Amino acid sequence: MTMPNYVKIVEVGPRDGLQNEKAMVPTEVKVALINQLTDAGFVNIEAASFVSPKWVPQMADGADVMARIQRRAGTLYSALTPNLKGFEGAIAAGADEVVIFGAASEAFSQKNINCSIAESIARFAPVAAAAKERGVRLRGSISCALGCPYQGEVPVSAVVDVVRRMRELGCDEIDIADTIGVGTPVRVQEVMRAAAAEFALDRLSGHFHDTYGQALSNILASLEVGVAIFHASVAGLGGCPYAKGATGNVATEDVLYMLHGMGIHTGIDLEAVVRTGDYISQAIGRANSSRVGRALLTKWAAASDAATACV
Ligand code: HMG
Ligand code: MG
Repeated sequence: MTMPNYVKIVEVGPRDGLQNEKAMVPTEVKVALINQLTDAGFVNIEAASFVSPKWVPQMADGADVMARIQRRAGTLYSALTPNLKGFEGAIAAGADEVVIFGAASEAFSQKNINCSIAESIARFAPVAAAAKERGVRLRGSISCALGCPYQGEVPVSAVVDVVRRMRELGCDEIDIADTIGVGTPVRVQEVMRAAAAEFALDRLSGHFHDTYGQALSNILASLEVGVAIFHASVAGLGGCPYAKGATGNVATEDVLYMLHGMGIHTGIDLEAVVRTGDYISQAIGRANSSRVGRALLTKWAAASDAATACV
């Protein structure tokens, strides 16, 4: 298998990155973040969630965020939609893609969306049908595909089962998500290969949280089996409110640096993403979790100090 020469990065910072923030992030900061990401060249940005505000208060202003962003032709703005109510909100807000999100673990499904896996699929069916009817792109996300914070081990067969159900619902893309970042490369390859036996490899994505520092290795392992879509979060922001201790997604800056260094194209301007990572980290008062972001910001600051000293 040769490595892909183009990789699609789905920027999930505005959703996965911010959803776990305790203090409300002002709507204008979310809008500025998405606008900066748009300018950096992303073709897909996960912009909002249309979920219960009681469950995830931080995402309550999704409609407002989506109304105020400046959209670029060629960029898809996605939204999480757990049920028909969420779907209607997302469509009214002009989402280009809706995301149904299930799990390969029964325990996580209950904690995150308050129902069993089978019930979740039944809830997703009308959402999927409505998306198809309107010609809206449909993505399916599978949490805990590499392990669960409540039940531990998750068998590959459980992941494959949800992949098959999401395919039957008509998903255009399916995410294999390592919610708590416990996966390691050989296992990731096993899961990706098994998923690819049920669903088109070029429409499978890797969504890796970096809790155990495995995410870049897992992306490389996935590239080796031909996966060419990855999710990442600027400055490594984030965590799941229903997976305690899980840290953010792999930092977008780190993924771009690795891919570009390997000669793999993304169409995204790394320097612009580093500046965006600096902006959002400062705006929400968090340390920047991107190694590449920190390294480049330090290098640029040193170069600017040296230039000032020479004047
Ligand atoms: P429920 O309590 O079982 O729902 O929650 P319900 O249908 O009984 O409704 C209860 C109340 O919620 C009602 O309001 C509904 O109107 C309201 P009330 O009558 O009490 O005032 N409600 C809604 N409000 C707004 N938008 C909606 C909506 N639906 C119901 N769409 C539900 C079930 C799914 C709604 C809830 O569990 C929920 O919202 N969960 C969301 C959890 C979430 O967003 N988690 C984080 C995202 S997933 C993630 O991060 C993982 C991922 O990144 C991949 C990975 O890393 O693994 C994607
Ligand atoms: Mg996630």
